Amino acid sequence: MAGASLRAVKQIIQSYRTGRIQLMDVPPPVPGRGAILVRNRCSLVSAGTEKYMLEMARKSLFGKALARPDLVKQAVAKAKTDGILEACRIALARLDSPTPLGYSCSGTVLEVGAGVEEFRRGDRVACAGSGHACHAEIVRVPKNLAVRVPPGVDWESASFVALGAIALEALRLARVSLGETVVVLGLGLLGQIGVQLLRAAGCHVLALDVREERAQMARQHGAEAAVTDYSRLETLCRGMTQGRGCDAALIFAATPSNEPLEQAAALCRERGRVIAAGLVGLEVPRKAFYEKELEFAVSRAWGPGVYDPLYVEKGRDYPPAYARWTAGRNMEEFLAQVAGGAVRLEDLITHRFPLDRSAEAYEMILKGKEPFIGVLLTYPPETGAAEKIDLVFPPPEESLRIGRAGGLQSRETPASSVGAGLIGAGQFATQILIPAMKGVRGLRLCGVATATGSRGRHAAEKFGFEFCTTSYEAILNHPEVNLACILTRHGSHARLVQEALRAGKHVFVEKPLCLTEEELAEIIRTYDSETEGRVPKPVFMVGFNRRFAPLARWLKEQFHGPGRTLCVHYTVNAGVIPPQHWVYDPEEGGGRLLGEVGHFIDFIQYLTGSVPARVFAETLGLGREGGGDDLLISLKMADGALGSIAYLSTGDRRHPKERIEVFGGGAVGVIDNFKRARFTQGGRVRESKRWFRADRGHRAEMECLVKAILGGGPSPVPFWEYLYTTQATLAIQASLREGQPVEVRLPGPPPLPERS
Ligand SMILES: NC(=O)c1ccc[n+]([C@@H]2O[C@H](COP(=O)([O-])OP(=O)(O)OC[C@H]3O[C@@H](n4cnc5c(N)ncnc54)[C@H](OP(=O)(O)O)[C@@H]3O)[C@@H](O)[C@H]2O)c1
Repeated sequence: MAGASLRAVKQIIQSYRTGRIQLMDVPPPVPGRGAILVRNRCSLVSAGTEKYMLEMARKSLFGKALARPDLVKQAVAKAKTDGILEACRIALARLDSPTPLGYSCSGTVLEVGAGVEEFRRGDRVACAGSGHACHAEIVRVPKNLAVRVPPGVDWESASFVALGAIALEALRLARVSLGETVVVLGLGLLGQIGVQLLRAAGCHVLALDVREERAQMARQHGAEAAVTDYSRLETLCRGMTQGRGCDAALIFAATPSNEPLEQAAALCRERGRVIAAGLVGLEVPRKAFYEKELEFAVSRAWGPGVYDPLYVEKGRDYPPAYARWTAGRNMEEFLAQVAGGAVRLEDLITHRFPLDRSAEAYEMILKGKEPFIGVLLTYPPETGAAEKIDLVFPPPEESLRIGRAGGLQSRETPASSVGAGLIGAGQFATQILIPAMKGVRGLRLCGVATATGSRGRHAAEKFGFEFCTTSYEAILNHPEVNLACILTRHGSHARLVQEALRAGKHVFVEKPLCLTEEELAEIIRTYDSETEGRVPKPVFMVGFNRRFAPLARWLKEQFHGPGRTLCVHYTVNAGVIPPQHWVYDPEEGGGRLLGEVGHFIDFIQYLTGSVPARVFAETLGLGREGGGDDLLISLKMADGALGSIAYLSTGDRRHPKERIEVFGGGAVGVIDNFKRARFTQGGRVRESKRWFRADRGHRAEMECLVKAILGGGPSPVPFWEYLYTTQATLAIQASLREGQPVEVRLPGPPPLPERS
């Protein structure tokens, strides 16, 4: 751990809500598993894509809504089920996310994460990918999105890697071959590179752009003809192909107009190929496509893998025998073509700006007052051995401080307030939980750790945290953080819970507590050893919030009284989640059963006042296909009560998400989506309502947690209750596997109530 620690890195961030671009100081990234840290030397501004993003972000709320009718539809559905206020709050929170700009860069490897064999510190690399190869001094890049820069290729040329590979992927989809005639429509960066790659592939190239200087550039890059007038191009094309038409047309233009697609169709020969790589109008003119039986494809980024989390985040490559050209191999080949001299990029570079002056670059692109094509951001070179960065354990003072001078020392002491340190500030935290935490009496938002520096910085500023970091250890080691809130994805919960307990913190962990029996057993051992003899014991809470909902408390009171053994039926209209969502990843999410069903088991425990003794579950359908997210679960509780959960994804999202029906002691209780509750007994009906929004108890959950910590315990929900909830979820999984009821038995000796 020699050398200086890095305090912050500069990164260009755009606010999607306001469109504002800022060069921000953000905590340095941590490589993590399967990724490398790269100190950038050069990054390419992809003027077309970035200009589109800037213009989109600068639209009014109404303009954005017009541009994304799909999201508006979702918001309307949410308003119908959860109330307008809630829908507006969530929609605004979504808009308010920081967007890192840039996706093509080059630099040297600074750190190599676990599981990366392909790179070593000091390697020269070129990187691609939104959210990875950004305009920032240091970037974290998954190993499959980085390639070595061949000798002889300079930083500037290497930083074109994403754009080059995008052009190459369009060629591959067009299956061009030696001697074919290919038309290129649009001669921006992609078009200019496309022309050169086509020449390298032995094609005859004709090109069209609205600007003469670009057409001229294309001629210099080997186009046999490049013009600004379509009818001229048509004549040339006919002449060059003996009237047949071109073999393929590649569209690299960026315009909402359908014209390029129509032109491409008109220029192609019978059974020719049309590839759209640029953002253009895509209304396929049926007549032309039908009569010539044309092939058409929209090429996707720079090759197979780019949108596959297994390829990007898990670093799994596709076997070359089945996927010869992946995103990574396209990147490699593009650089090989540059190294071999077939592609020249120097004359494409019209502007260079040091990162500190990036605002000027964007202003120039947006105003469009002077001609530009290749715009580069440059970064200072490394300064030698002192450059070695210790990113493993930045002490708290290395975290990025936000806000008032004086910082922590001038604030309340931990004895009179709870100092919360958040690990994770993703969708759930920023949209639901942190807003619910804000303003809870006695709760101080101390620090927030995220994997990506810009997100932590944004959350810190937006919600008023005192520091942000990319090191969760900085949260756990911070003397003034006494409550660790673990809000990461499921796969890290068990480990982080144990680390937080070892660090002596109170713990709040989002559901689920863990994903396997082994993890549960470890948590029990760690909890016992870390809390033994401690008075008071640390407060421990899992984020099963529904039992804290005002209507849940109201209904529980109605059923209060002896001799009621309840039967609770919980229906969940869970909706479909895209199959690539992280919740389905076995390591990160564990699936929806483990990830979400605990909520409903916990709720049944709360209402019945008992714990599950036996479970049985079946899924919808017969075969392996489908059905995994559609479950009927029955629970036999230790006191004889019954619970059933219908967890269904096959319904309609516009129907309210949750409905609970409770029977017992001559009474019936109903909760409708946490907005309305009814209790009927002896013919009398009592009702309670939340007028403006569904309230699932997040705020009350936080208030209880803070009160418990300030009051010296005990935990609002005993630790052993969580063990039953978790074990019951695992037993449901076993029941599905075995096709029979499964007893809920805790690992190790039976828990004793005094555990909490
Ligand atoms: N109780 C409820 O009603 C409810 C509802 C929905 C979800 N949840 C739960 O909330 C949790 C989070 O879900 P989500 O949808 O918010 O997931 P998400 O959007 O993926 O957020 C995960 C967060 O963890 C951060 N992170 C990952 N690795 C980290 C590390 N090593 N150090 C520090 N931070 C790290 C991520 O940082 P980056 O942002 O930089 O990537 C991100 O901020 C899950 O347990 C989920 O089940 C609860």
